[in-house]
Amino acid sequence: MLETRDLGVRFGGHAAVQAVSCRFTPGTLTAIVGPNGAGKTTYFNLISGQIKATTGEVWLSGQNLSGLSAAARTRAGLGRAFQLTNLFPNLSVRENVRLAVQATREGAHRRGLNFWSVWLDHADLGARTDALLEAVAMTRQADAPVASLPHGDQRKLEVALLMALEPQVYLFDEPTAGMSHDEAPVILNLIRALKRDPSKTILLVEHKLDVVRELADRIIVLHNGELVADGDPATVMASPVVQAAYLGKSASGSEPAREGH
Ligand SMILES: Nc1ncnc2c1ncn2[C@@H]1O[C@H](COP(=O)(O)OP(=O)(O)OP(=O)(O)O)[C@@H](O)[C@H]1O
Ligand SMILES: [Mg+2]
Repeated sequence: MLETRDLGVRFGGHAAVQAVSCRFTPGTLTAIVGPNGAGKTTYFNLISGQIKATTGEVWLSGQNLSGLSAAARTRAGLGRAFQLTNLFPNLSVRENVRLAVQATREGAHRRGLNFWSVWLDHADLGARTDALLEAVAMTRQADAPVASLPHGDQRKLEVALLMALEPQVYLFDEPTAGMSHDEAPVILNLIRALKRDPSKTILLVEHKLDVVRELADRIIVLHNGELVADGDPATVMASPVVQAAYLGKSASGSEPAREGH
């Protein structure tokens, strides 16, 4: 179980995320929606430890992660898509994925798996790497240096690296943004497959409402950094607060949020 308690951050005078208390249970995909600038990415950054909270706490499986670095939170089971700046740009796609798989397996070793299982894991490194490349449809680009990849392939690689970590919690921030019509279904199929694992907790920030409707078990809505709605998709999408805050159907006639980047 992932939980945020009164989680918030101020940038100067601006409260980007305000006292968000929420629990996310394994086996559930929660979509996080809200207008541009609502605080969705910032909320993820607070959970993953990319930025330091001004208020509140983050708990995972009974452990208070609040004081921990982003790297320590990753080791605790929080999976946030890699920043491409963390990669080795001159190494190939395959080499980068292999390094991520290897780091994860060595982490498992330190967590107390025995020698033989580690040896078997190593024998399995190449196979696991190939399976991940295949899962994101990047077998063809496996030998290309990461620095040379077009944008859509970079995003797919981010997802492959996140999968390599085998985290308990997956944080997907607009995973198909900027992808072509051929590429997006590859990623959505992966998320669909992940959903079948009842031990995984998935959080998905997504502007495309058709994707949200299809994948989400639950929707939470952020608006001006505050949690303004939380519930099952049909109820949340129909609620007046969402119609006003997200879809822009307010009396003031504000513009709807644009979909995607
Ligand atoms: N590092 C930062 N320093 C100062 N202000 C920031 C920082 N990061 C985000 N903000 C501000 O915090 C608010 C929330 O931004 P955030 O990126 O979390 O929104 P979002 O919901 O992810 O929007 P989008 O849908 O456009 O991705 C915005 O007003 C943004 O300008
Ligand atoms: Mg964002």
